Amino acid sequence: MRNDIDHILYSEEDLQAIVKNLGAQIEKDYVGKAPFLIGVLKGCFVFMADLCRSINLPCDIDFMAVSSYGSGTTTTGAVNITKDLSRDIEGRDVIIVEDILDSGVTLSYLKSYLQNRKPASIKICTLLDKPARRRANIQADYVGFTCPDSFVVGYGLDSAEKYRNLPFVGVLKPCVYENR
Ligand code: IMP
Ligand code: MG
Repeated sequence: MRNDIDHILYSEEDLQAIVKNLGAQIEKDYVGKAPFLIGVLKGCFVFMADLCRSINLPCDIDFMAVSSYGSGTTTTGAVNITKDLSRDIEGRDVIIVEDILDSGVTLSYLKSYLQNRKPASIKICTLLDKPARRRANIQADYVGFTCPDSFVVGYGLDSAEKYRNLPFVGVLKPCVYENR
């Protein structure tokens, strides 16, 4: 599996440090509140597990699943909600937790979808931001790393459902997905 990685972008230690930092920022901004963390499956699952444990506040945690990619490496532009929330978010301080903000199509759709349910506030926390490929007018409020324009995997991020369990974030060798 590791032979498919061109190089490591963010090591386990880098990720641990940045997630602690994001948790501390959120903790400070939400003092006296109980944020409602909404993870976007599946890519968020590792990040969410670490992030929520670095926020020392009472948090609700729920997940949504959307599909937009298929097995390719660029977005098709269409967003499909395949799993919705199990609880109401009206009046709550929502933080959407994403693995990577790329074209922004997924998050801008999701943000306006959730806005319709009248939360008190909505912010976005993304581990990685790839601004080079932005198509929708959307920014994250909390960003771990601003990431170069390469296809990355690991720490929850996949290529055709593989590599999510790598403990680091690495750049996939293009030959791996060009052969698909
Ligand atoms: P967007 O709608 O283009 O912003 O797509 C966001 C989603 O695309 C993310 O949640 C990821 O699942 C996926 N994605 C975008 N870039 C990458 C990448 O470099 N590696 C793995 N998945 C990616
Ligand atoms: Mg994905």
